[in-house]
Formats: sequence, structure tokens, C-alpha cells
Amino acid sequence: MKLGRASVRSAIGRLLLVFVAICLVFGSVNFFSPAAAHAASKAMRRQGAALFHQKGCEHCHGVDGIGTERAPSLSGVGRALHKPEIARQIHNGGKQMPAFGNALSDDEVKQLVEYLAAKKKKVAKPATAASVPDSKN
Ligand code: HEC
Repeated sequence: MKLGRASVRSAIGRLLLVFVAICLVFGSVNFFSPAAAHAASKAMRRQGAALFHQKGCEHCHGVDGIGTERAPSLSGVGRALHKPEIARQIHNGGKQMPAFGNALSDDEVKQLVEYLAAKKKKVAKPATAASVPDSKN
């Protein structure tokens, strides 16, 4: 009887140990990796935002892509286009947009795509020229 109870207790102890081990392993998978991935894509988006400014996208699309009379707002482009389509537009240009394929590295295009794909605002109407002062100097 005594022995039986002891082995039950040690079995429970072992189960608990396994449970804790599982929590540790899956806990780290569930909580840490997405956090790391999230941090990585956040860094990509920040790089993309900087490139958007540096590479002259702003000249036509406005600060943070709000749109000007030269080019449409990109504040909802993440809803309108998939990432490969955004990449293609940047790479090949469009009707009124120059191609940037030669001016940007693959990584830079990726960063711009991450930045733009996160823009998912519902755009009621395009920004007017009046709301975007021309910052040429
Ligand atoms: C000379 C002006 C100009 C510059 C510079 C420019 N664009 Fe554009 N862009 C346009 C115009 C105009 C359009 C509208 C479609 C077209 O003409 O191809 C457009 C369209 C786009 C689209 C597709 C939007 C949609 O909803 O279909 C994306 C994405 C885009 N531009 C990203 C960029 C990025 C990123 C840069 C900088 C690397 C950039 N553009 C620089 C003028 C410009």
C-alpha cells in the first residue's frame, strides 16, 4: 500500500516534470519566435520608410505616401496590391512612374515592399495638392 502511493506520487511528479518541459519548449516557440519575427519585420518596415524618403518616392507620393497631384496615395496600397505586385511596380515602374529596378538592391526593394504592404488604411479620397505643400527648395 505504502509503496503504491509512493510510486503514484513519483509518477505524478514525473508527469509534472514532462508538463513543465513541454511548456518551456512550446512556450519559447510560441512566444519568442513570433516576437523575433515581428521585430525583424518592424526593422524592415523602418528601413523601407527611410528608403521611401531617400530614394525620392516622396517626391511624387508625398510624405509617408499620402499622395500628391503627381502620384496616388499609397496609404491603402497594402489592401489594393499583394507584395509581389508592389515589388513589380517598384522594379518596373508604371505609366507615370519610373522604374527603380536599377536604382535599388533586392533588399531595398524588399524593405520598401514591407513598408508599403503594411499600409492598409481605407482611403476615402485621395489627398489634394493643397494638403501637400511642395517641398522643393
Ligand atoms: C515620378 C513620380 C513617381 C516616383 C518618383 C515614384 N512613383 Fe510610385 N507611382 C507614380 C504614379 C504616377 C503611380 C500611378 C500608377 C502608374 O503610373 O504606374 C505610381 C504607383 C505606385 C504604386 C502602385 C500603387 C497602386 O495602388 O497601384 C506603388 C506601390 C508605388 N508607386 C511605389 C513607389 C515607390 C516605392 C517609389 C520609390 C522607390 C515610387 N513609387 C516612386 C509616380 C511615382
